[in-house]
Amino acid sequence: MSIVQRASELIGDTPLLELARTGTGTRLLLKLDHLNPTGSCKVRMARQMIDEAEREGRLLPGGRIVEPTSGNTGCGLALVALERGYRFTAVVDRHAAREKLRMLTALGAELVFVETPPGGGVASVQRRAVAARIAEETGAFHPDQHNNAGNANGYTGLAFELARQLGTVDALIAAVGTGGSLCGTIRAMRSAGHATRAVAVEPEGSIIFGGPPGLYHQTGAGSPAGFPVGSNIDRSVIDAAHRVSDADAFAGARVVARRTGVLVGGTTGGAIHVALRRLFTFPAESTVVVLCNDAGEKYLDSVYDDDWLRERGVFDELAHRRVHRWFAAYDESVRAAARDGSARLVEVGA
Ligand SMILES: Cc1ncc(COP(=O)(O)O)c(C=O)c1O
Repeated sequence: MSIVQRASELIGDTPLLELARTGTGTRLLLKLDHLNPTGSCKVRMARQMIDEAEREGRLLPGGRIVEPTSGNTGCGLALVALERGYRFTAVVDRHAAREKLRMLTALGAELVFVETPPGGGVASVQRRAVAARIAEETGAFHPDQHNNAGNANGYTGLAFELARQLGTVDALIAAVGTGGSLCGTIRAMRSAGHATRAVAVEPEGSIIFGGPPGLYHQTGAGSPAGFPVGSNIDRSVIDAAHRVSDADAFAGARVVARRTGVLVGGTTGGAIHVALRRLFTFPAESTVVVLCNDAGEKYLDSVYDDDWLRERGVFDELAHRRVHRWFAAYDESVRAAARDGSARLVEVGA
């Protein structure tokens, strides 16, 4: 049994769960990074951004940190701040999952709320302006996760873990917001000689990859209209980008919960949706990994609440059935391969 002195020492070395397999020997694995302290992969980058700021003298003992956040980066910063004696202010909006705001408070963060824009939606533009103003007025360290190289650098360890656990990773599929987790992991894997494909997933309504703007409820991923896409979205390493509706993303998470007992967040549900839809297109014997950005326990009042989904018009019975059908088709392809050696995979259908 290993005993650590600080919770941040438990960051990393998260396990993998096989979610699906095809008759051609392709595996879809979940990297359970929501099992990190704070229930999210983002604690990796929060620690890294603080480490780099300390090294560069941008954060001094007893100092203050201020950052706009939908919750996960904030919880990571709050954890490292409390361990190292910093004051942490999270600039948030009501679009954030309630459980994340409660968690920030539980970890001792100070919350500053900005109003959501007319018509609802995420207030990224407003949050960022308020955080920058507080930093300017108080001299607090503002990590600016969208443009801080420490964000992407924080995932070097994740790349090493995947290489150690799997040897070869043919594709990594992840929801993108700042881009740090997908692009940082992929860059580190490629530097180590791996030819892993990077597949980015954003909510329909997000404008990162040029789609039309609109309202979405997948908190943490995507960028709303008017928000400048930051430098951690490194298009030069992204091989494919997909958009997923709220209904499909949430159905993905909910069906996986019923099938495996593992609760993942809504944006991970979107990445799972893309992975299942595309799994039959990968060459035989591929290893495809979906990064689990955060834990489903943070969304019991939203993604996992039928009434919440219905109130927002994003409860879709057909979307749930489609995910079940994909699992059934892959299971059947494995049985067929065992029965008659046929490794044929037919399109599983939209
Ligand atoms: C739930 C969730 N999904 C996806 C992302 C996107 O991750 P990244 O900012 O590394 O692109 C985030 C980022 O905050 C998140 O909180």
